[in-house]
Amino acid sequence: MRRAICPGSFDPVTNGHLDVIMRAAKLFDEVVVSVVKNPQKQPLFSLEERAQMIREACAGMPNVRVETFSGLLVRHAKEIGAQAIVKGLRALSDFEYELQQAQTNHRQEPTVETVFLATDVQYSFLSSSMVREVAELGGVVNGMVPLNVERKLRDKFSS
Ligand code: PNS
Repeated sequence: MRRAICPGSFDPVTNGHLDVIMRAAKLFDEVVVSVVKNPQKQPLFSLEERAQMIREACAGMPNVRVETFSGLLVRHAKEIGAQAIVKGLRALSDFEYELQQAQTNHRQEPTVETVFLATDVQYSFLSSSMVREVAELGGVVNGMVPLNVERKLRDKFSS
C-alpha cells in the first residue's frame, strides 16, 4: 500500500489544496491530509474546525482521510505508515522554503520522500492567507475555496 501525507496548516483549506489532494489521491493508494497544530501560530480556525472543513470537502474522495498532528512531520509520517510527503509548488517563491523543508525532513527521516506537484496555473495566486484577508475585508472568495469553507468564513466575519 502506497500511502502519502499532505501536511499543512489549512487555515482554511483552499481549492488549490484540494486540487493537489485530488491529484495525489490518483497517484497513491491512500492520502492522509494532516492538519498541523502549531503552537507558534494563532490560526483563524481551530484545529478541529480546519480538519472538519477538509473532511467535508473531501467527502467524495474515498481514499482520502484527514488527521491532525503536532510535533515533527516525519515522525507523524512514520507513525501513519506514509512513504511520501506531497506538497504543491505554486511559484518560484515557494521553492526555496519547500526545498529547505524537504531536505530537513529527509535528513531526519531518509525513508520518507517529498514529492512536489506543480499547482494548477489557475490556483498559482491562491493562498490561505489571501483568502483570510479577502474574507475579512468583505471581498468575494467564490472559486477560491469550497462552498462549506465559504460559509464558515461568512459566519466567522459576519458578527
Ligand atoms: O501550510 P503550511 O503552514 O505551509 O504547512 C507547514 C507544515 C505543516 C508542512 C510545516 O510547518 C511542518 O512540517 N510542521 C511540522 C514541524 C516539523 O516537522 N518541522 C521540521 C521540518 S520543516
